[in-house]
Amino acid sequence: MQQIDVLLGLQWGDEGKGKIVDVLTPKYDLVARFQGGPNAGHTLEFEGKKYVLRSIPSGIFQGNKINIIGNGVVLDPILFKQEAEALMESGHDIRKSLYISRKAHLILPTHRLLDQAREAAKGAGKIGTTGKGIGPTYTDKISRNGLRVGDIEFDIKAKYDKIKSDHFKILAALHYVQDTAAMDKEWFDSIEFLKSFRFIDSEFFINDALRNDKAILAEGAQGTLLDIDFGSYPFVTSSNTVTAGACTGLGVSPKRIGKVFGIFKAYCTRVGSGPFPTELHDATGEEMCRKGNEFGSVTGRKRRCGWLDLVALRYSVMLNGVTDLIMMKSDVLDMFEEINVCTSYIIDGKETDQFPFSAEMDITPVYKIFDGWQEDMTKVEKEEEFPAAFKTYLNFIEKYLGVSISVVSVGPDRKQTILRKGFMSEK
Ligand code: GDP
Ligand code: IMO
Ligand code: MG
Repeated sequence: MQQIDVLLGLQWGDEGKGKIVDVLTPKYDLVARFQGGPNAGHTLEFEGKKYVLRSIPSGIFQGNKINIIGNGVVLDPILFKQEAEALMESGHDIRKSLYISRKAHLILPTHRLLDQAREAAKGAGKIGTTGKGIGPTYTDKISRNGLRVGDIEFDIKAKYDKIKSDHFKILAALHYVQDTAAMDKEWFDSIEFLKSFRFIDSEFFINDALRNDKAILAEGAQGTLLDIDFGSYPFVTSSNTVTAGACTGLGVSPKRIGKVFGIFKAYCTRVGSGPFPTELHDATGEEMCRKGNEFGSVTGRKRRCGWLDLVALRYSVMLNGVTDLIMMKSDVLDMFEEINVCTSYIIDGKETDQFPFSAEMDITPVYKIFDGWQEDMTKVEKEEEFPAAFKTYLNFIEKYLGVSISVVSVGPDRKQTILRKGFMSEK
């Protein structure tokens, strides 16, 4: 019997999960998303083309591997239709390889309105959500009022109207009522499109696949510091983005978790509000943003940038049981003369290397300063070519975190990925 491997983000999202899932897919039979929804934007680049996936797993481009949208995902039929049609237009016949869990919850147009209304009501204290209805949809799931993909195999009109009328009561209180007739029509049209895909009881499908020795990769969305329980609450998303989320989001036992690939950028970014201890508000931060093209893949929002935060990263490694680290966007730091890494925080005059209960506290990061490598990393093809200063940076991170960096990414293209010696040689 196989184990299921998990790949997830260790920071605030956008670490490069899509790219690496695509790179690793040839080693797997099946790729499955386990949480989140169209708040995600996973970018893949190969053969001179760029794709951004939101709800569809990033294993979709590698042959006929099976891709599953798991029960832990929230699915917007309208956005799904747009995403699927764009892929089909570009010549990818995804109907054969994409299966959807009957237990995944559906995002309704009024979920999106509620998300926007709640954000507007929060004013300056807004979370900066993606406005895709993620929080309200998970709220309805937990409060047992949600609609699921499997429901659309029956008549859902009455259920839909009931949920909508409940939402309207809240929207009225928030002075955010809108005519939804056009959105309702588009939603039901998109439901018909959704029905052309294969729905499965994914928990049975996945456990059967494991019993039949199939190799499965679970693809996370968002990042550990956006986890509903362990992230910088309330500036988080509404799902469990950590490894445990793969168990509940796919229906696999914790005993079946194999490798956990924790992915991080060589620096940090965050989009939306919320604490960010190592954020830079200076020219260095601007340079990272420019060089890293740090703008949201879906919303286009500018991402906040800062130095690598090892206090936060060690917390993420602990929560997820990371077995292998994957470092992304090393090339973005190429031209910096000095590179800082945060190794502890000073809070209330005391030094600590533990991520605090509330990262909203007044935190002063303590930095270790490294010499920059000042070489073009995008041309590096194997680890023997790593500049000495880069190796020093890698070694320090590995030692601090107690986990090896198994993969180094040096550019956005599929090919700009260095799998270090011994990595997955058994697969
Ligand atoms: P995800 O949400 O974790 O899949 O990440 P995103 O796709 O939102 O953001 C990562 C961005 O960085 C995308 O634009 C990628 O094309 C790009 N990218 C990924 N790896 C690298 C890398 O090693 N170097 C550079 N320069 N860009 C990268
Ligand atoms: P990927 O999968 C980065 C952030 C939003 C906001 C907070 C809550 O591409 O890494 P939500 O819409 O989920 O209620 O927003 O979480 N956020 C992300 N930031 N990458 C993502 O996904 C994100 N998904 C949500 O900006 O701060
Ligand atoms: Mg993203």
